[in-house]
Amino acid sequence: MRPGDRAMRGFALGFALLQLTDSDCGTLFKDFGPPCLVGLPATWRPGKHENVKDHMRSTRNALRCCLELPVLGRAWELGFAMSHLLRRVDEPNASASGPTARSAAAVFGLFCGPKACGPSEIGPVALTHFLAEQMQVSATAMPPLPGHEIAVTELVDWSSIPLHFVIAGAERCATSSLHYNLYHHPEIDFTLGPTAEDYSIFMQGQRNKLVPTRAQVENHVAQRSTKNQQPSMGASIMGLKNPVIVTYPLSYHAIAEMRSTKMILVLCDPLRRLEKLFMFWQFCHHDLQDAWRRGDAARPKQERCYSSIGALLTWELQPWLRAQFLAPHLKVILEIFSTRRLLILHQASLRRTPRETYDHAARWLGARSGFSAAYRFRRRQYRLGHRTDLCHNVSLQEALKRRLVLEYGTFLWAISLQAGAGFPQREAQAELEEHRSRCDDPEELVPGECGLYDEDDTGCPQREG
Ligand SMILES: *[C@@H]1O[C@H](CO)[C@@H](O)[C@H](O)[C@H]1NC(C)=O
Ligand SMILES: *[C@@H]1O[C@H](CO)[C@@H](O)[C@H](O)[C@H]1NC(C)=O
Repeated sequence: MRPGDRAMRGFALGFALLQLTDSDCGTLFKDFGPPCLVGLPATWRPGKHENVKDHMRSTRNALRCCLELPVLGRAWELGFAMSHLLRRVDEPNASASGPTARSAAAVFGLFCGPKACGPSEIGPVALTHFLAEQMQVSATAMPPLPGHEIAVTELVDWSSIPLHFVIAGAERCATSSLHYNLYHHPEIDFTLGPTAEDYSIFMQGQRNKLVPTRAQVENHVAQRSTKNQQPSMGASIMGLKNPVIVTYPLSYHAIAEMRSTKMILVLCDPLRRLEKLFMFWQFCHHDLQDAWRRGDAARPKQERCYSSIGALLTWELQPWLRAQFLAPHLKVILEIFSTRRLLILHQASLRRTPRETYDHAARWLGARSGFSAAYRFRRRQYRLGHRTDLCHNVSLQEALKRRLVLEYGTFLWAISLQAGAGFPQREAQAELEEHRSRCDDPEELVPGECGLYDEDDTGCPQREG
């Protein structure tokens, strides 16, 4: 195409655009000129978990810049296929469908517009200005951008999610018991009741977002159940349980952004946890169907399995083993949360001194009172007796403990920080210091009625002593 043709067409397109910007939104947008960073940083990180803190912080700053402008703005995520939009400059009539999170070339960015611009107007207006700036041409030289090719959704702040606390892990360390028992405190409630885990806004539900969309937050709030229908009877402290958040940087960094939301983690003996995870994902149960039914196995039938936990010492399972370590995440979490917002309990404290530990947790969450004297704490989803061959083989235990040395050290550090914050957990500290596992507790190794999977899922009454 000769330069003259392009200029002519630019003129024609500019004319078309003039009609578009003739709307209120277009005029308002031109005068609005927000000083905030737009376009980038992107609002999502597909599968990328490095530098999450920095990305989340700059996206949050751009969002706040927009929402806190004197002339109030509205923040949007606009998704578009950059290559396609650029091609449109040459081929204005080319047709295409809108981008999805899956289309490789799609870019998702944060844009700020005046409050008066609604979802149907903001996409073409903001993107036209953005692209014109990128290409260093006047916005009037840009072809009109069809609204249906741009994905538009409004963005909100993490702190707009009304949530007092999150049980964020660690999986297989008594989070089910903690959840169930806290739910039975009259002032405490959970988004999905006494047993269900909530994935609607963190983990997969977060959809890789660095800041949430208004729709995500509204859907999350709409799916909640509350334990008392009459508002006057309602429990005032709302919690969410999702035991895998502790291993998912995008979600724990998001919770760190929610300044009035607290986080509880339960830790346990690293070897005990490892054995349970191994039993669940790698062990060859002699009757897999039955193990599924009991809740002792989760691995698919066709996948390779191992008849001894000694397999964790082979090179083959090193990547899996490393992926189970909590220490790398725990170190970051201890850096970004103060003890005002982070409570770390040890399973040994829940097991040995349940009343004292649960009362402390309830008060730390802001409850006016502890648990009623009549309430019997329950222990859920555990299994007495031998789980794998681990407790029959002392040298194997020793070898695995050496692989877990960083876990022991980091857990001990985390628990001692809680001691500094007024909740010493002496039994837990001793257990961690001595690397004591359930193999050293003869009572745990005797199969018992209540240790098997319970049909009603409420667990067994907890001994108090
Ligand atoms: C593009 O579409 C317009 C309106 O539908 C039409 O008038 C014009 O001829 C088309 N241009 C090309 C190059 O196809
Ligand atoms: C204990 O485990 C180690 C490592 O898997 C293995 O080599 C050894 O044979 C086991 N000992 C017994 C008595 O099973």
